[in-house]
Amino acid sequence: MSEAKQDEGNHEIPAPKWRERLQALRKVPPVFRMVWECAPSVVSFGVVARLAASVIPIGLLEVTRVIIDAIDRHIWYHSALQKDFWWLVALEFILASVAAMLGRFLTFCDTVLADKFTRYVSTRIMEHASRLDLTRYEDPRFYDKMERARVQGTDRVMLIQMAGRLIQEFFTTVSFAAGIIFFSPWLLFFLIVCVVPAFLGETHFAFLGYSLSFNQTPAKRRMDYLRILGGSRESAKELKLFGLGPFLVGRYKDLSDRLHYQNLQLAERRLLFGALLTLLGTIGYYGAYAYVIYQAVAGVLTIGQLTLLAGAIAGASTNIQAVFTTFSGIADQSLFLTDLVEFFAVQPSIRSKPGALVAPQPIRSGIEFRNVSFAYPGSRKKILNGINLKLEPGERIALVGENGQGKTTIVKLLTRLYDPTEGQILLDGVDLRDYDLDSLWKEIGVIFQDFMHYEMTASENIAVGLIEEANNPFRIRAAAMKSFAESVIQKLPKGYDQLLGCRFEGGVDLSGGEWQKIALARAHLRDAQLLILDEPTAALDARAESEVFKRFAELTKSKMALLISHRFSTVRMTDRVLVLKNGTIAEQGPHEQLVKTGGLYAEMFELQAANYR
Ligand SMILES: Nc1ncnc2c1ncn2[C@@H]1O[C@H](COP(=O)(O)OP(=O)(O)OP(=O)(O)O)[C@@H](O)[C@H]1O
Ligand SMILES: [Mg+2]
Repeated sequence: MSEAKQDEGNHEIPAPKWRERLQALRKVPPVFRMVWECAPSVVSFGVVARLAASVIPIGLLEVTRVIIDAIDRHIWYHSALQKDFWWLVALEFILASVAAMLGRFLTFCDTVLADKFTRYVSTRIMEHASRLDLTRYEDPRFYDKMERARVQGTDRVMLIQMAGRLIQEFFTTVSFAAGIIFFSPWLLFFLIVCVVPAFLGETHFAFLGYSLSFNQTPAKRRMDYLRILGGSRESAKELKLFGLGPFLVGRYKDLSDRLHYQNLQLAERRLLFGALLTLLGTIGYYGAYAYVIYQAVAGVLTIGQLTLLAGAIAGASTNIQAVFTTFSGIADQSLFLTDLVEFFAVQPSIRSKPGALVAPQPIRSGIEFRNVSFAYPGSRKKILNGINLKLEPGERIALVGENGQGKTTIVKLLTRLYDPTEGQILLDGVDLRDYDLDSLWKEIGVIFQDFMHYEMTASENIAVGLIEEANNPFRIRAAAMKSFAESVIQKLPKGYDQLLGCRFEGGVDLSGGEWQKIALARAHLRDAQLLILDEPTAALDARAESEVFKRFAELTKSKMALLISHRFSTVRMTDRVLVLKNGTIAEQGPHEQLVKTGGLYAEMFELQAANYR
């Protein structure tokens, strides 16, 4: 997409090129494939019902014609009513009833299909999003795309109904047209010609509407953010104390005013041109109608034929217009589908190779970083620069360093959320990239510094560490005991079944340290070969941290553990300390040794110790 499209600020609405418009229609078939996949039987029933419904109107007109002509002859020429006359009346009743029932049935099909499709697309979006690289989540353009894709799942349901309607309208038009052609092909041609300008107008505005909406996505996302920020529990404390309310409302209003102005501008133009073009369609209809009346008056047509033709002209004119409007609606909607289809086309770059290895069990020679350098995608700054380190099986290592030195980044590489820009990470001598991702992740348990607070029950909050054990209260409890979460949960009114967090009714919020104990239970539940704790003990009080970590060290004796902490009381309990500075390992060795050597580590240690004296 062009640069201009990313800019939400301009008032001019750039119209997409015709090529772009036609290309968008190519996105329709994959979506209809999805529609078909999500409910083949509903789609089949719907199509059949629509075909049936589309021939009924002309059938009704034909029966009416026969009836009227029969009555006409009966009145003027006193001829006897034909034998099947009353059957014809009954037939008309049956046709009308079937049409009404088909209408109901189609509404039913549409509702069911819309529901199924929304569900299907939403689940697929969630599944797909969960497989994508972490990098994607740091790219605002990707967020916009995902947001638009999400809306497709719910809003684009209209498209399916439109497609159904298009089928019906098309065949109804064909059947009416057949009736008119029989009388005069020119009449039909005239009707169509009068509708074409309205069609072109409709499509034009539909495309304008799309590009406007496309350009507005970033602004809408920002508005969503402001709206959520203005009404969320997390932000309420600061908003109040800093008096940010009016500031946020003002920001929101500015953005929404701008969008409103743009929408209004388009709506006004659409109103003006749309009204003129519709007038043209109406002229076509009444022109044809007047011609038919003239023919009847001249005696060329019977009253029955007049009725049929008047009905067919009215029906054809409405349906031709409808076909065009629906078609341009589909074209419009299909532009939005671009985002859905493109979203599904985004593939993760971090994935398992075909025939990837299963992660070793047990790990024999450990993990090795060999000359690893790393810069975040889209940035040239090397956060890590030629890192060499080794983690032996059964070894517990602490990673220390000032803020922003790349500790968490090392964890992200170790867990293959990112791949190194240069160098290699080896597990038992084999590049991490050669292992199957799921099997690799199974062997690693990580609690990140910004671990999730799931607004679910206490038990579920622990179970996320190993979701297969969600229904195993014994293992969950055992894990909670190990991380001292048990005592936190004991105090909750509903114990393990207590809903945590305040988002939902009946939830109870925890303190920062209490949340951390719960999160640590995840690591114990996971019982992986490599455990990584990225400062998840920062909010624990000194006694709790010391206890938690002592316990952690005991319980992970035979495992590899990587601990990141700014507290030296904890750090000193590990076997070896790595000091990270300017993207490289500046010092390493056991705590005592590093303190004795008197380098960077000793300096940091002294600084912290001095505060306690
Ligand atoms: N997603 C990202 N995209 C771009 N740069 C990032 C990203 N995450 C971190 N950085 C940059 O990488 C550097 C290292 O970040 P990292 O989170 O690894 O530091 P850290 O050592 O864990 O710090 P802290 O002690 O504060 O947790 C920082 O300078 C940060 O600006
Ligand atoms: Mg960090």
